[in-house]
Amino acid sequence: MYHVKVKVCKDPAEVGKLAADLFENLIAEKPAGVIGLATGSTPLPLYRELIAREKAGKIDFSRVHSANLDEYKGLAPDHPQSYRRFMQENLLDHISIKYENTIVPDGLCEDVDAMCEAYERQIEEWGGVDLQLLGIGHDGHIGFNEPCDHFPAKTHEVELTEMTRDANKRFFDSIDEVPTAAFTMGCGTVMAARKIVMVITGKDKADILNAAFYGPVTPEVPASILQFHPDVTLICDEAAYSKVGK
Ligand code: GLP
Repeated sequence: MYHVKVKVCKDPAEVGKLAADLFENLIAEKPAGVIGLATGSTPLPLYRELIAREKAGKIDFSRVHSANLDEYKGLAPDHPQSYRRFMQENLLDHISIKYENTIVPDGLCEDVDAMCEAYERQIEEWGGVDLQLLGIGHDGHIGFNEPCDHFPAKTHEVELTEMTRDANKRFFDSIDEVPTAAFTMGCGTVMAARKIVMVITGKDKADILNAAFYGPVTPEVPASILQFHPDVTLICDEAAYSKVGK
């Protein structure tokens, strides 16, 4: 078993700063590197930190490439709840990365297989993901890889569980507006990244952190596959770490 590097911080702001250090180091070593990005509330302190660090002259995103984990099926890029829009508003519009060097699965694609294949191919053509950021769902999902009987390999379409739709309804006017399906990188796509950083904050994630990193590796907890990756850093706050060893 590989050794997951675990850093426990006092609060989400410190989690953001430690995670930002990994991105700063990567981009210093590899100015045209490929970063994998995630949506959700947990990465927001990190994104604020990255914006501030570029303004302070510590990071230069102008040659960086980015690939996002996932997108809701049926939402246009400019839909207020689309993940493309989330990324533009919370990070990409505020740094010097070029729009054409950023990819998010196309929520409106007509040919799903072709879009998913092209997504994988683009990442490969860029040379693969150097540093992949991940959050975690309460059911252990990464991207939108929901608990199931296997670890999906590649970018694919997935039906969202009621738990995930319920957790994400806070961003929509009602649960009926939350899409029932999404496109996501597979667990295999994620595992192909050279380095992975997972951020987890809050007491409500304490049980799933414990299950994912200290329980058995099983597709019923998709994030548990990270235990088999050679270079994973888990950065969490004390609240999220509170069930480990208990
Ligand atoms: C969504 C995303 C995941 C994210 C998860 C947790 O379902 N598809 O990539 O990790 O939400 O989000 P939050 O950080 O808001 O708890």
